[in-house]
Amino acid sequence: MFIVFEGIDGSGKSTQARLLSDFFESQGIPFILTHEPSDGIIGQKLRSLASRLKPEEESRLFLEDRVDHVKTVINPAMVAGQHVICDRYYYSSAAYQGALGLDSVEVLDYNRSMVPEPDVVFLIVVSVETALKRIGQSRSAGFSVFEKRNGLEAVSGIYDTFQDHVIKRIDGGQTVSEAHEEIVNWLKLHGVGA
Ligand code: TYD
Repeated sequence: MFIVFEGIDGSGKSTQARLLSDFFESQGIPFILTHEPSDGIIGQKLRSLASRLKPEEESRLFLEDRVDHVKTVINPAMVAGQHVICDRYYYSSAAYQGALGLDSVEVLDYNRSMVPEPDVVFLIVVSVETALKRIGQSRSAGFSVFEKRNGLEAVSGIYDTFQDHVIKRIDGGQTVSEAHEEIVNWLKLHGVGA
């Protein structure tokens, strides 16, 4: 399965992705854990941005990074029979670059035409208030350029609009272990780790 985790910064999606990888590990289930922006050249450039770019430019770079990530990391793992756990994918482009003014539906459609669709997207839903508190507590280096409050409100609003059948919303306001259990139960119901 190609499993994606999405949500606003501070939603807890990276924690859930890591917990799922621990679960697969404990069950001897083959998988890789990866993330976007990727560790490739474009991904590294995006992570080190000191300020935002033009939305079109950001969108183009995230997609370029994604195409490279699919080719060099995701597809080879799928071919090798491993589950792929990916922290962020094209819904992040639609939500974050959409929050800068791009049409999120167009961003999604264009991305869909370029890279494979995930089997399931666990969208971790929390309030912006909760997310900002968590970011403040967990990141000593301070907020990244993507994490400003107004921005996150807009990003969160766009995540709320997504209706794809692959999206499974998880309440990120419950405890970390409750959310993890819900995710594992969903996967077991769909034949993974049963
Ligand atoms: P994030 O998952 O928060 O990385 P980390 O856990 O290392 O902080 O991703 C970094 C930022 O990149 C995040 O704020 C959202 C942004 N982003 C986009 O704007 N568009 C995209 O397509 C992707 C994948 C990420």
